[in-house]
Amino acid sequence: MKRSILFLSLILILGNAWLFAQTKPASADQKMKVFVDALMKKMTLDEKLGQLNLPGAGDISTGQSSNSDIGKKIKEGKVGGLFNIKSVEKIRDVQKVAVEQSRLKIPLLFGMDVIHGYQTVFPIPLGLSCSWDMTAIEKSARIAATEASADGICWTFSPMVDIARDPRWGRIAEGSGEDAYLGSQIARAMVKGYQGDDLSKNNTIMACVKHFALYGAAEAGRDYNTTDMSRVRMYNEYLPPYKAAIDAGAGSVMSSFNEIDGIPASANKWLMTDLLRRQWAFNGFVVTDYTAINEMIDHGMGNLQQVSSLALNAGIDMDMVGEGFLTTLKKSMTEGKVSMIQIDQACRRILEAKYKLGLFGDPYRYCDINRSKTEIFTPANRQAAREIAAQTFVLLKNETQLLPLQKKGTIALIGPLADNKENMPGTWSVAADFTQSVSLWQGLKDAAGSDANIVYARGANIVDDTLLDARISVFGKPTYRDNRSPQQMIDEAVALASKSDVIVAALGESAEMSGECSSRSNIQIPANQQELLKALLATGKPVVIVLFTGRPLDLSWENAHVPAILNVWFAGSEAGNAIADVLFGKVNPSGKLTATFPQNIGQVPIYYNHKNTGRPLAEGQWFQKFRSNYLDVSNDPLFPFGFGLSYTTFSYTDLKLGNPKLAANGKMDVSVTLTNTGKTEGSEVVQLYIRDLVGSITRPVKELKGFQKVSLKAGESRTLHFTITAADLAFYNSDLQLRAEPGDFKIFVGTNSSSGLEASFELLK
Ligand code: BGC
Repeated sequence: MKRSILFLSLILILGNAWLFAQTKPASADQKMKVFVDALMKKMTLDEKLGQLNLPGAGDISTGQSSNSDIGKKIKEGKVGGLFNIKSVEKIRDVQKVAVEQSRLKIPLLFGMDVIHGYQTVFPIPLGLSCSWDMTAIEKSARIAATEASADGICWTFSPMVDIARDPRWGRIAEGSGEDAYLGSQIARAMVKGYQGDDLSKNNTIMACVKHFALYGAAEAGRDYNTTDMSRVRMYNEYLPPYKAAIDAGAGSVMSSFNEIDGIPASANKWLMTDLLRRQWAFNGFVVTDYTAINEMIDHGMGNLQQVSSLALNAGIDMDMVGEGFLTTLKKSMTEGKVSMIQIDQACRRILEAKYKLGLFGDPYRYCDINRSKTEIFTPANRQAAREIAAQTFVLLKNETQLLPLQKKGTIALIGPLADNKENMPGTWSVAADFTQSVSLWQGLKDAAGSDANIVYARGANIVDDTLLDARISVFGKPTYRDNRSPQQMIDEAVALASKSDVIVAALGESAEMSGECSSRSNIQIPANQQELLKALLATGKPVVIVLFTGRPLDLSWENAHVPAILNVWFAGSEAGNAIADVLFGKVNPSGKLTATFPQNIGQVPIYYNHKNTGRPLAEGQWFQKFRSNYLDVSNDPLFPFGFGLSYTTFSYTDLKLGNPKLAANGKMDVSVTLTNTGKTEGSEVVQLYIRDLVGSITRPVKELKGFQKVSLKAGESRTLHFTITAADLAFYNSDLQLRAEPGDFKIFVGTNSSSGLEASFELLK
């Protein structure tokens, strides 16, 4: 009996593979259509609804998948894919149930939150964006795809491209900061890195651009909160990175939790169909975020049947975890609330994704046990993670050239993040092996060898409040709470620090103080760590802060009192080594901020490309009555977008425009000379901004339109060229048409968004 079932299964799998190989009409798309048409003809309504279902995997263990609840559903054809299962053995096992025991043998999609690396973890996305290095970012995604696909994964829930201007929002850590232009470049690089040039290769995976849309604009920085904004702002400032990812070929999109124009994204037909499908011609599939359909009940959109039909009618194809599609759409069909055409369309898109991934040709394409043993967490991948991480650190302050540190004497390493390898990968590191990441203490000891003596004391807990500590010590990232009193810990640290030559204070947030559902209303370094810092400063020894954070922090006090601050975000598996490389000067820091650091929380939201208002504050002023400002703080950020120091210095000279009259169909050459005026080789991110002086709608005071990362030897000069065309000057007007408007413009080229050389030009009619 068993044998005959096995034999029958084999015939059916071979049948699918044969059909896959035989259908050879003109184009690849046609070939796919013929294949999917033939398959869909065989499918029942229930089987079609099964494809739209992405349940949580639960705890599937190898060898038992067939008997688990999920296993039963898979056999009944009620599952389209699963996510966050780790290990090629488990995935192969589950895939086997689908392709041997379900009626039509349709393979499953296996997804995962591969957000900033797989087992080799790269810096959190906000950190990665500070490298401004598209080659490095693409490489990180390529390595992530290689490792994930070697472990059975064919689909990642990344890139996250939500523009965020509010550091209270913990998920600012998962994106590329506040700028739509830079965010779009990064979105493209990530999609290219994951998907390569052929999705059906066994080392590429399908990208899923998320969270569509505007998730980063949650009111008050509170996760999942309402967003509401004008279309003009949406089109110009928030939507471009999603569009860039889609134009780069991202195979799938994830709907966001928030509402837009009063309708949750997952039921928003304007968003999912008019914009995404009609205007942007997206032809992949849309999956909801985790239970986003069910959550529309709490949004006040109706019961499960109602919200599920709203979602399908809006253009959602796959239901993550909630099973509203699986359990209610059949009823809605019979009641005429949804149509067969719509169900067919969603099912087709999911089958097409499986086809594009090559799963019908070989459902085990991504399940090569050999690859999983040889391609994951390799020395080469770890080396790449180390090199890329060092590029993401932002040197915020370096008075009296305290950094780089010399490898001599005694270095006191103090702080709750100095000896905590589990927290180094940062938020969303599902596939990380925390025992393998390198702590700062380890990294410093390895780098110093016998040249310097590294002594360590904890000094403080991450936070004093035990309840808060429990909330931020999750997902296998312990804070290692020390039960001594704060004073006892400080005393120990001060005693050690007083006998040393320099103090490295490893302070900041734990990894899970940012990320999902980790909003903060206070964005300072926790108070107990500030107390420790004050005690360390009181020793009179020079102090360097190595700052761990997933968001811009209010560092006003630290900036005023501490001579050196190196912001290292959460740098991934190789964090400790990469930080040591920069602290000891083996690598010269070159990261530049991609999200503004405010002077205090009251300035939030604060971002460089704001509007001028009708009552701008005069430049260089703090306060003027009846001007747009605050009584108690200047309008300036603490550290502007694009800011970051180096161990060397750079000068900018000779900003020249080829022809300051730019024809509508012409090109303008912009050149500038960059000189390394210091004593060390270093890299600089040269940034080009424009300002449109008069427009049919108000225009930002500055907008990034180009950048180049350049490495120069000490004393070396180079003339750099940028090309500006009318397309770079275009924006969405109040009719939402993308137009460049003739008139006067300014151009700024410099080291960050607040300083630079300036020139003027005119865009001709
Ligand atoms: C997050 C998504 C993630 C999904 C699946 C959700 O809670 O918002 O970003 O991809 O879970 O893990």
